[in-house]
Amino acid sequence: MRKILSYFYPITQKIETVQNGIVEITYYNGKKMLNSAHANYSYDSLQRILKYGLTKVDLKQVNAILLLGLGGGSVIQTLRKDFNYTKNITAIEIDSTIISIAATEFQVFPSDKMEIIHADAFQYVNSTSRKFDLIIVDLFIDDTVPDAFYSRQFWFSIVSLMNINGAFIFNAALATKVSKEFLEMLQTFSTEITISFFDNVYETNSIIVGQKRS
Ligand SMILES: C[S@@+](CC[C@H](N)C(=O)[O-])C[C@H]1O[C@@H](n2cnc3c(N)ncnc32)[C@H](O)[C@@H]1O
Repeated sequence: MRKILSYFYPITQKIETVQNGIVEITYYNGKKMLNSAHANYSYDSLQRILKYGLTKVDLKQVNAILLLGLGGGSVIQTLRKDFNYTKNITAIEIDSTIISIAATEFQVFPSDKMEIIHADAFQYVNSTSRKFDLIIVDLFIDDTVPDAFYSRQFWFSIVSLMNINGAFIFNAALATKVSKEFLEMLQTFSTEITISFFDNVYETNSIIVGQKRS
């Protein structure tokens, strides 16, 4: 019923979360999405931006994906349905309410090939010894990527967790916020990583793709 009504007007349910303030589950034109106060989190523009990023990597080589920032899990839907990716995904999410929303509202829950870890992504990447073929960095609090995720320490860990020929996709907030200093810092990894910068994707965020050399 809510789906049908949503073709006439948006229907919104507000939920108070632990880390993300009040988020909204909105049905619009028969589609359900997750929004924070000022940004789409899942199943709308965010999903399109990450899908664009995924076209820049060769998923045939990928056996294990680390997703930092589960949200409603829309990139998992993209990977499974649009790219037919059937292998392992490990998702890290700091907000327990968001993990519940992903399960109850979007049917994204742990399974054989889907691990969900309730943790701070910064601490996780600094402490795990696991390696991944693709790391998707999609960490926002509302419309802001927390400063820690632009730090050299964080990116040093990301590069260390990547297998040879592995890749990362960084959803890097609004183009204007991706500073010259940050791009210069990333270039310090250029002996190991080839970096490609895609500005203003669908007139919203910037996508940075890194590929680890063999
Ligand atoms: C834009 S949403 C992720 C959307 C998701 N990737 C998708 O495809 O639908 C950003 C998420 O990052 C999470 N996040 C922010 N800071 C975090 C941190 N330090 N550790 C883990 N998750 C964090 C937020 O709680 C939020 O759920």
